[in-house]
Amino acid sequence: MTPHISARRGEIAETVLMPGDPLRAKWAAETFLENPVCVNEVRGMLGFTGTWRGHRVTIHGSGMGMPSLSIYANELIREYGANTLIRIGSAGAMQPHVAIRDVVLAMTSSTLSTPSCGIFRELNFAPCADYGLLRAAHAAAEAKGIRAHVGGIYSSDVFYDERPDLNKQMQRHGILAVEMEAAELYTLAARYGARALAVLTISDHLLTHEALPAADRQSSFSDMVEIALEAAFA
Ligand code: ADE
Repeated sequence: MTPHISARRGEIAETVLMPGDPLRAKWAAETFLENPVCVNEVRGMLGFTGTWRGHRVTIHGSGMGMPSLSIYANELIREYGANTLIRIGSAGAMQPHVAIRDVVLAMTSSTLSTPSCGIFRELNFAPCADYGLLRAAHAAAEAKGIRAHVGGIYSSDVFYDERPDLNKQMQRHGILAVEMEAAELYTLAARYGARALAVLTISDHLLTHEALPAADRQSSFSDMVEIALEAAFA
């Protein structure tokens, strides 16, 4: 047990998928895993362990934002031995060629700050994805006929951003999309020798102000779960 996860040692798999929303974790576990067992519900942050094509997998919520994800990823890696962590979540598109429903595979994530920033002092650490996971996820998306973009994203600390110029600079430098968790996940994975990737579906567009219709959210989320599972065990 840890302060935020009530699972016993051994109840968490080495491979963990991390949606932001705990109810998405429940839905994904019940939909994609065989024999899913709830292993955590502390503070309503649900985690489930089961198997997918014979492989043990945990699907555990991260909550929203890097401080929340950091708590769970730290405990999953350091206390339970998770070594492959894949964030599955939504992101806002920042480029005209990235459309609603497209998938973005985050090769790297820029950020103003993460809970880890204090240790780097004046250095701007460049958090990056595990190349093997990235390559396998891209192949899985291609095989499914899903448009997947590979490139840099931005992990923000705020959803309601009052700094329009910052978004403009991100767009000018080719950043594909904005979300709120990947940079800290990649930084922790680097620190503890784990593999990490963020598989993101575009749910809103910062340039066109379109949004993914509620009816399409489930199928887009399914695509992400399948891409993540196939990448993890490629
Ligand atoms: N996640 C999904 N859309 C987002 C946005 N526009 N900003 C930050 N995180 C997001």
